[in-house]
Amino acid sequence: MGSDNQHKIGILGSGKGSNFLAIQNSIRSGYLPASVEIVLSDVENAGILTIAQDHHIPHHFVNPGRFRSRLDESAEAECIRLLRESGVYWVVLAGFMRVLKGAFLEAFADRIVNIHPSLLPSFPGLHAWEQALDYRVKYTGVTVHLVDRGVDTGTILAQHPVPVMDDDTSLTLHQRIQQAEWQLYPRVLKNLVTGRYSVRGRNAVLKEDHFQA
Ligand code: GRF
Repeated sequence: MGSDNQHKIGILGSGKGSNFLAIQNSIRSGYLPASVEIVLSDVENAGILTIAQDHHIPHHFVNPGRFRSRLDESAEAECIRLLRESGVYWVVLAGFMRVLKGAFLEAFADRIVNIHPSLLPSFPGLHAWEQALDYRVKYTGVTVHLVDRGVDTGTILAQHPVPVMDDDTSLTLHQRIQQAEWQLYPRVLKNLVTGRYSVRGRNAVLKEDHFQA
């Protein structure tokens, strides 16, 4: 991995955007040497678009089309066009609730990153914290991974465990997981944009972790 636009990030999200805000705050504090060039959402009134507006970052609602769990062809083409025009290298999924398909994955091969609220491969898919509560695991956590054709199956870049308490509710566990997400995502992105990862197939090796400093 190596390119002069490696610090340029595009964000896709469908929800309130707390991970995007954590990323943006890390950039503003000087921790993360990156810039968010564009924010796209498939949800017209998503909080993530309001945060982008507040931070004067170009942002767009892209009508996802007729499917429930993925973008239709024209939405996919529109996202690819906007991301390319903004010159981003990394596409960062921050609560984006649709599965990305072939053309998108090819346009940004090995440059799409996702954060998932469990220790994958446990509990892929929706409401991972509720799956963890139902299973009564003692630890769940957060995974940051590259995106491939599967659902939450791509090469794992980093994970962080989160304890499950006996009296946890869906809300309290999700809040504890999100706090871990806000730490882990900027840290992984810092290592990605500075070229610290060597990825061979499923094996992502960190040459040197800035977070230790
Ligand atoms: C996060 O819990 C993330 O793991 C999942 O969607 C949620 C997005 O939250 N993929 P937010 O919009 O960043 O607050």
